[in-house]
Amino acid sequence: ATYETILVETRGGVGIVTLNRPKALNALNATLIRELGEALEAFEGDDAVGAVVITGSEKAFAAGADITEMATKSFTDVYLADLGGAWSRLLACRKPRVAAVSGYALGGGAELAQMCDLVIASETAKFGQPEITLGIIPGFGGTQRLTRAVGKAKAMDLILTGRMMDAQEAERSGLVSRVVPGEKLLEEALAAAEKIAGFSRAAVLAAKEAVEVAHETGLSEGVRFEKRAFQSLFATEDQKEGMAAFVEKRKPAFRNR
Ligand code: HXC
Repeated sequence: ATYETILVETRGGVGIVTLNRPKALNALNATLIRELGEALEAFEGDDAVGAVVITGSEKAFAAGADITEMATKSFTDVYLADLGGAWSRLLACRKPRVAAVSGYALGGGAELAQMCDLVIASETAKFGQPEITLGIIPGFGGTQRLTRAVGKAKAMDLILTGRMMDAQEAERSGLVSRVVPGEKLLEEALAAAEKIAGFSRAAVLAAKEAVEVAHETGLSEGVRFEKRAFQSLFATEDQKEGMAAFVEKRKPAFRNR
């Protein structure tokens, strides 16, 4: 497929999406959100892909939802367009998403990073929810996912003042998985994604699903989910292979069986 606002490629077991609206700092317009959903849906259906990297440019991961597109919209317009709901196709992709963030990740851009499973940030990354400065609030899950990631105190600070935080603060706060030098960003993100893609697919999906449950339920419910998911992996050949390889002191060859 050819896209207008993103670049898509596959490298080894990794699908890569590069947001590509350089003149608007990768502002997320309706076309981009739709195309991102289509690309993720295609990766979900591609057995060769085990993980996905989402990245932007050096200057901007994404500077938010497209303000020029939203500026004159009425309630009915935004209600019917349901831009927030348009992320469901991306969220439905069960394969792990690694965000490789350089430069601005603001508003919807920060929220896109929050929708990824790993967030690898360059030292230049800046995260923020500046919606309040525009007379709105986050609308792609930021008040919920940011708060779960960094806690109430930090989330209130960011969402009510609209200030940006740098990569170090974002890592300290729990929004970012790792901070790496800018020139290593894509390399590190691809290496992490390739590593994930090399493991047993069933184990990876079960692990991701179980961690996600931690965001949505209480502890005993979550532990019960984990226990059953853990037990179910003993029905896979990959579990036999992974453990046999350890005992025989060799590398496992997972076959996704
Ligand atoms: C549309 C944008 C944009 C955006 C930048 N641009 N961000 N266009 N929507 N979110 C455009 C600029 O208008 C400009 O276009 C070009 O990109 C370069 O941006 P500059 O402002 O000239 O760059 P700079 O001075 O370096 O400042 C960078 C910046 C600033 C600090 C990131 O652009 C900025 O504050 N952007 C808006 C950030 C923001 O408020 N995001 C939240 C959006 S609301 P021209 O044509 O002039 O060259 C949101 C809500 C989500 O995300 C939920 C919705 C349902």
